[in-house]
Amino acid sequence: MKILLLSSSPRKEKSQTFLLAKEVLRGVASDVAAESEVIHLCNLKIEFCRACEACHKKIFSCPIKDDVNMVMKKMLEADVLVFASPNYINQVAASLKAIFDRASHFIHCKRLLGKYIFGVVTSGSGQGKAVLDYISYYAHTCGAQYAGGISSQPQLTKEKLEEAFKSGSKIALDIREKKVYPEQIEIIEKGKQYFKEIMKARKNEWKEEYLYWLDKGWL
Ligand SMILES: Cc1cc2nc3c(=O)[nH]c(=O)nc-3n(C[C@H](O)[C@H](O)[C@H](O)COP(=O)(O)O)c2cc1C
Repeated sequence: MKILLLSSSPRKEKSQTFLLAKEVLRGVASDVAAESEVIHLCNLKIEFCRACEACHKKIFSCPIKDDVNMVMKKMLEADVLVFASPNYINQVAASLKAIFDRASHFIHCKRLLGKYIFGVVTSGSGQGKAVLDYISYYAHTCGAQYAGGISSQPQLTKEKLEEAFKSGSKIALDIREKKVYPEQIEIIEKGKQYFKEIMKARKNEWKEEYLYWLDKGWL
């Protein structure tokens, strides 16, 4: 099993969010043979999406030559994606949002189908719900199931670290049992139906994405 942790705090190894996420990874590894990779987004060159739609016309043809293509490929190879973000004004940090924007092809073609996404958030106030809800929304819109999330204030307690470790074991169980959350599958399926109509309407512009849908037998 491959796990990819995208950590968006600019504080890298000192990031409390990252430290909490590391416990989640330790929990997964204690339960199942897992190959995990950590990417600190602030180490990468990440530009903003220019809304040119090149990636919809020809998949992975983004004209911006930075590190985002590499991150997207790794996201596709992973079974589990852990998104770790400090709460920045009730949202994920901008580096992670930039990845989501640049990977909008994942939304059009539900490229994260079959994967699990887990969210890790810390915030000064301890209010992580809005950010975790957003990560859950992102999972569904890309076709992935949300395996849960954890949030904390920056002062990580022993109990919080234990909770993170246990969350990791639960992710491992989800993977082993190929856990299906029926209410999430329903949301994902609705999103697919919505995009089916868009794909048909835009087939002459978003040629490769349309062919992807055809190839999957979804049209
Ligand atoms: C730009 C910015 C925006 C922030 N916005 C919020 C916020 O809206 N609510 C909150 O509780 N904390 C907010 N914080 C505090 C961080 O979420 C908090 O310090 C977090 O635990 C830092 O995580 P890290 O150690 O992983 O970098 C903000 C911090 C920064 C730098």
